[in-house]
Amino acid sequence: MGYKDSRIHDLEARTVWRNNWVAVGRTDQVSTPGAFFTGTIGREPFIVSSDKSNTLRAFYNVCCHHGNIVEFQDAGEANQFVCCYHGWTYGLDGRLTKPTKLRGIKNFTARGNGLKPIAVRTWGPLVFLRLDGYPDEDEYDQKVLPLMLELEEMGFSSGMRHVCRRQYQLNCNWKLIVDNASDGGYHLEYVHRDLSSNLDLSTFRTEVGDIYNMQVCIGKADGGDSAKRQRIGTKAVYSCIYPNLLVNRYGPWLDINIVLPLGPDRSLMIYDFYLKETFANEMSETELANFIDQSLQDSDQVQQEDTRVCEGVQRGMESTAFDVGRYAPGPEMPVHAFHLQLARDLRAGLESMDISC
Ligand code: FES
Ligand SMILES: [Fe+2]
Repeated sequence: MGYKDSRIHDLEARTVWRNNWVAVGRTDQVSTPGAFFTGTIGREPFIVSSDKSNTLRAFYNVCCHHGNIVEFQDAGEANQFVCCYHGWTYGLDGRLTKPTKLRGIKNFTARGNGLKPIAVRTWGPLVFLRLDGYPDEDEYDQKVLPLMLELEEMGFSSGMRHVCRRQYQLNCNWKLIVDNASDGGYHLEYVHRDLSSNLDLSTFRTEVGDIYNMQVCIGKADGGDSAKRQRIGTKAVYSCIYPNLLVNRYGPWLDINIVLPLGPDRSLMIYDFYLKETFANEMSETELANFIDQSLQDSDQVQQEDTRVCEGVQRGMESTAFDVGRYAPGPEMPVHAFHLQLARDLRAGLESMDISC
């Protein structure tokens, strides 16, 4: 039911997508004053910008006049944000600097208006938003520390070059994407034959933390199809951070996937690919271009294979034949942990509704 019901989708919008740090983009998109990007978490449009003093800011992308979307571009550079409807203008810090044609208005101050701020933070190369504001105590860094250490050992926060972004829309609930990425490698040998042939699946190990899971596998770096093996290298780390972030680090590649809900049975996956600087610097321009091209094709194949099963499960779950499934006790521990975390959020949401009714 939780994968197709619009009431659960709405409850998630009030809980999961508000009271957790939700990954939305990259720090390099907003590394200079005036740089910004926009996006949507469910039905909440946002702008992330770097203000004139290069301080990271985030706001609802909603004009306080009549509610128009203020910035329609996905990303860019700006000195200010001007609403295209009636020209109300906002600074990069969200302040309302020019409300137009308000002569004679009463009980209104520009200072009392402006773009509504959103809590924002970074972790590694990523930007996160929390719609419910800053938590009293932010334990995020602490909670993901073991994963951070594992990733940093291979290269994560620095020494990585952003190569490109790819987006996929899937006809499935967002949780099926996280479930699929959290099954402890269970599906690899069945769904990803090509990828599996470059991994030593007998070495697969899984670690489950409070808000993350980490799956580590040794790669078969020697022999075989060299470009494919080079892509995976000697070690692969596949991880999920609650609720919507998949961080995959293998060989010279870091691929980060942000998962966002578009509806109860539709999701968006935003892939950002990074390549290790030292690896890229050792290649000629042509070698590098070929390697990137081949790797992106391989990655696309893996995603197509995942899309097929995620969408297949969505269709199957919508049948009257399916009620509840079972967890495989060993490998699917991380899926179970994800569902427990989700249940905590949804229960808290239901309890707060009871109180306010
Ligand atoms: S809605 Fe933005 S200026 Fe009117
Ligand atoms: Fe997969």
